[in-house]
Amino acid sequence: MSKIDKNKLAEQKKYITAVKELNQANKQVLGRQKTAYISTFGCQMNAHDSEILLGLLFEMGYAASENEKEADIIIYNTCCVRENAENRVYGNLGYLKKLKQERPDIKIVLCGCMMQQDTVISKIKESYRNVDLIFGTFNMHVLPELLYTCLTSGGMIIDVWESHDEFETETVAVRQHKYKASVNIMYGCNNFCSYCIVPYVRGRERSRRKADIINEVKELAADGVIEIMLLGQNVNSYGNDLVNGETFGGLLREINSIQGVKRIRFMTSHPKDLSDEVIYAIRDCDNICNHIHLPLQSGSSRVLELMNRKYSKDDYLYLADKIKKEIPGAAITTDIIVGFPSETEEDFLETLDVVKRVGYSTAYTFLYSKRTGTPAANMDEQVPEDVAKERFNRLLKMLNDGIYEINKQLVGETIEVFAEEVNEKDETLITGRAYNNTTVHFKGDSSLIGKILNIKVTDCKTFYLMGVIA
Ligand code: 5AD
Ligand code: SF4
Repeated sequence: MSKIDKNKLAEQKKYITAVKELNQANKQVLGRQKTAYISTFGCQMNAHDSEILLGLLFEMGYAASENEKEADIIIYNTCCVRENAENRVYGNLGYLKKLKQERPDIKIVLCGCMMQQDTVISKIKESYRNVDLIFGTFNMHVLPELLYTCLTSGGMIIDVWESHDEFETETVAVRQHKYKASVNIMYGCNNFCSYCIVPYVRGRERSRRKADIINEVKELAADGVIEIMLLGQNVNSYGNDLVNGETFGGLLREINSIQGVKRIRFMTSHPKDLSDEVIYAIRDCDNICNHIHLPLQSGSSRVLELMNRKYSKDDYLYLADKIKKEIPGAAITTDIIVGFPSETEEDFLETLDVVKRVGYSTAYTFLYSKRTGTPAANMDEQVPEDVAKERFNRLLKMLNDGIYEINKQLVGETIEVFAEEVNEKDETLITGRAYNNTTVHFKGDSSLIGKILNIKVTDCKTFYLMGVIA
């Protein structure tokens, strides 16, 4: 993966120039630059894909727009992990029908995970004829070619690939943050958790070459980036598909030694693949945050088996203990699904038990969402919605109480905080992030942004800490 195919790159560059020329001609007629608006649904992978799409659009002469109503191109980078993310896209498309009637020249573009499903494409073809261009997760890099065709011809263009290409764009992502950047280290997933649609829409695991990753991180560091988030559906299996024996632990150690990068994070870690090598790398390397996002999904070994997670409750607890022992003060965060088919009250109590014993710093909690095409969708005994919701609320209560307890222990301590921005509500405050990603507010001014500061924690709430510069 991740070879730069010079011919394909040259071909896309040709289209970039062609679209740019169209836009320059338009600028003279319109008296302004054309603009693009991107709405991103779903995970950090999608957020990063949108940064790359924006990079391509900039190269083609577009400016970014924050205002959907006024943009010339509207892109929805979609997610299909849960049904409500899909419903939001359909809801917005309904609204765009009206916008397109008022401004027929705009282009509506859909991409991302939802587009990899035939049922979605059929529905759009049938009910949303106002869409101009559709592409999927495997062919983002041919946006210039697709957009050129879209701008120079009529009708709906659909180009969704079934698998990836040995080609990667050289386009530089337009970052949302000046000092923080995401870097893909691998794509796809081989795990086929029984509830999850991701392996069907993002394909099999492909690791990027280590040299390409290291180069990208070095370039980001040279551009002033302090914090790097390494992204993959399962970063722990990084290198399994490479011939030269690369491992995630090895990659972490190399990135740790890159000058300028002061914080390294990564997600997501599948518990079945978290090696001692990775735990030791976190322990030994100063720049790697002492934080592991370790999705539990369920605390019941019976449900975990049905989920095809390949670990038991005891395996997970053993791993969490090992992390805490090897990395004192380590923060563990998680994902939990409530209401998986056949989940009983006893199963759910096992989940609560793990929550209590691990002590999570943050958790993302989800109601199980049935995804057509996954094995779990055909399982008997779907849990009634009211039962799942009641369990969900109980889980939230326990998690929040636990998070508050963890935050309380930090009061009086001095911790390193990365100052990120002026607080939106109170401009005398700076908002930053602790090593475990918890939000911290403290008095200060914008000259502190981009710095890592020692902050003494003075007070806490469930979702943030208050502090003063130490
Ligand atoms: N229903 C609910 N949550 C899901 N996730 C993945 N698939 C589903 C589903 N069908 C959650 C998992 C995963 C996170 C990214 O999304 O917890 O870790
Ligand atoms: Fe989905 Fe499981 Fe792969 Fe995560 S590891 S993306 S939950 S199949």
